[in-house]
Amino acid sequence: MLIDSFDRKIEYLRVSVTKQCNFRCQYCMPDTPENFSDTSSLIPLDKMLEFIKVAIDEGIKKIRITGGEPLLRKDLANFIASIRSYSPEIELALTTNGFFLKQYAQALKDAGLNRLNISLDSLQASKVALISKRDVLPQILEGIDEAQKVGFPIKVNMVPLKGINDDEILPMLEYAMQRKITLRFIEFMENDHARSHLKGLNEAEILHIISQKYRIIEVPKQTLGPSKSYQLENGTKFGIIAPHNDDFCKSCNRIRLTSEGTICPCLYYQEAVDAKEGILEGDSQKMRESIRLSVKNKPEKNQWDLEQNEHSARAFYYTGG
Ligand code: 5AD
Ligand code: SF4
Repeated sequence: MLIDSFDRKIEYLRVSVTKQCNFRCQYCMPDTPENFSDTSSLIPLDKMLEFIKVAIDEGIKKIRITGGEPLLRKDLANFIASIRSYSPEIELALTTNGFFLKQYAQALKDAGLNRLNISLDSLQASKVALISKRDVLPQILEGIDEAQKVGFPIKVNMVPLKGINDDEILPMLEYAMQRKITLRFIEFMENDHARSHLKGLNEAEILHIISQKYRIIEVPKQTLGPSKSYQLENGTKFGIIAPHNDDFCKSCNRIRLTSEGTICPCLYYQEAVDAKEGILEGDSQKMRESIRLSVKNKPEKNQWDLEQNEHSARAFYYTGG
């Protein structure tokens, strides 16, 4: 079992399989060149699998595959199938921008993936193009449809930005309502790679917009993790991830592995454990020690105040969000 210095049980591993992405979202990597990351520094998936096995043996119960855009990585469905065959019980999730989902949904389902989180910030094609710098709304919507068709439970992540898609909060909620998708609003997290003029809506502002049309009930927390659940009178549930709130880190149960073999105990905390050597050598003992060290180093709270004016210098597409 993995328990950190603040008595939090660490059971959730996020694995970023690539930094690359085919979108250029304003809050993530708007100015990053097309082929910015060198694929030779990527950990091969078979080596990553060995790391994941060690992590599962250490007590990890939930794994989320992230990126960048994870579906850019060839053979991802086979990778997921191998994790599933090592552990029939582990909860396996994937976060994707949805662009390749139409193509891969069935293979991912067959591989034993349990759930999908899909990023979508608007239902207007022009706004999606403005935010992600790609004209991709039809592909994302088709991807969501296909994923539902093959039987995936789906969460959609939306980052509400002032003056950009704040008028899309209600339409997105109603779209989710009709399709029995859980919508999760994520407060924009300031970081050095995002467009500097962006302003996110905070939890109170999001709730205020929704409450002008619907009565909202707060639902007591059922699972660990950073999302707060709300419900409308008609039973529709939605969530808000509000990292700007003080108590955000109290229930944090996660560590992250980057595509280059670094273990990050926190998004907003520069200290990380370089586990690359042990992973490439397939040395279980070294991998186990790296995991334990990273859990031991996990800070009590994120360090926004200490890091460059409340910004994170490390990119989200590197740490996997
Ligand atoms: N602030 C908030 N959410 C972000 N994401 C990426 N960058 C940021 C940021 N700066 C979220 C996107 C996507 C997921 C991969 O990470 O909403 O759903
Ligand atoms: Fe790609 Fe997701 Fe970053 Fe957008 S937020 S650029 S989809 S990794």
